[in-house]
Amino acid sequence: MQNVTVIGGGTMGNGIAHVFAQYGYEVSLVDVSTEVLDKALSTIRKNLDRQVAKGVLLEGEKASTLQRIHPMTDLREGAAGADLVVEAATEKVELKLKLFSDLDQYTPAHAILATNTSSISITRIASATQRPQQVIGMHFMNPVPVMKLVEVIRGYATSDEVCRTIMDIARRLEKVPVEVNDYPGFVANRILMPMINEAIYTLYEGVSGVEEIDTVMKLGMAHPMGPLQLADFIGLDVCLAILRVLHEGLGQPKYAPCPLLVNMVTAGKLGVKTGEGFYTYTAGSKELVVSERFR
Ligand code: NAI
Repeated sequence: MQNVTVIGGGTMGNGIAHVFAQYGYEVSLVDVSTEVLDKALSTIRKNLDRQVAKGVLLEGEKASTLQRIHPMTDLREGAAGADLVVEAATEKVELKLKLFSDLDQYTPAHAILATNTSSISITRIASATQRPQQVIGMHFMNPVPVMKLVEVIRGYATSDEVCRTIMDIARRLEKVPVEVNDYPGFVANRILMPMINEAIYTLYEGVSGVEEIDTVMKLGMAHPMGPLQLADFIGLDVCLAILRVLHEGLGQPKYAPCPLLVNMVTAGKLGVKTGEGFYTYTAGSKELVVSERFR
């Protein structure tokens, strides 16, 4: 198991490529956009520099890590020699079904096809292939080089052997894998998203303000970030999409997204990536400023 193909060079894909290359795997990094690939490589370089500055990586290891990453736009070429594929493309069901159907054709028969999806059913993605026993969720957390957890999600047909292999690979990356079954939201988002939704309801119903809610959870529950700041960081559109998956998939009203969240997404206030959510974000500034709307 030496050749890893990472599909998607965005937020998650560049981090996934980085850690696999750092731990000695040859990585083909595939994206439809050469611009994204250039940006991914410069992000990886910056993050490796940070690791060198912190003393966790030697200068020579940085160079060899970079040499092991091969950016490309052709999926067929990237998939040809893969032992393992980790798909981290845009979170759209139709896109992932098409990608997995193509990967099933282009990769060698022994290859394991993993997805980093945060909310789409692994069983559904596996159904686009003729090898559902070799399809599995490998859910890294953002930022990938820093966060220790990998949620390993077994689809309905995932084999014990494939699950064991992925758990071992995650450990080789010095991550901590946790095995979970394929139900909406898996474990991480099943618990996190209702908490974020409840924080938004708490604001919506006027129980307290943005800063107050986040302060209660930071100082009272020792969370490193309050739930509203975390929602901004994840992206309010992403939070809404995952809540909808929970609501539809589990059919319980307790997962219904707060109307305030729906309104903010409709208005294009998506958090850090658009410069405004519960807080406003100015490039270069680390100061946390509550959005005018909630003052
Ligand atoms: P992103 O939008 O930053 O990157 C997605 C990349 O996929 C883009 O660069 C896009 O050009 C590329 N892409 C689209 N179609 C493609 C195709 N056919 N072939 C190759 N590349 C293609 O998205 P992000 O945030 O990195 O998310 C990727 C996956 O990771 C999603 O499934 C998401 O649910 C999951 N995820 C995201 C987390 C996050 O915090 N952003 C956390 C954990 C999982």
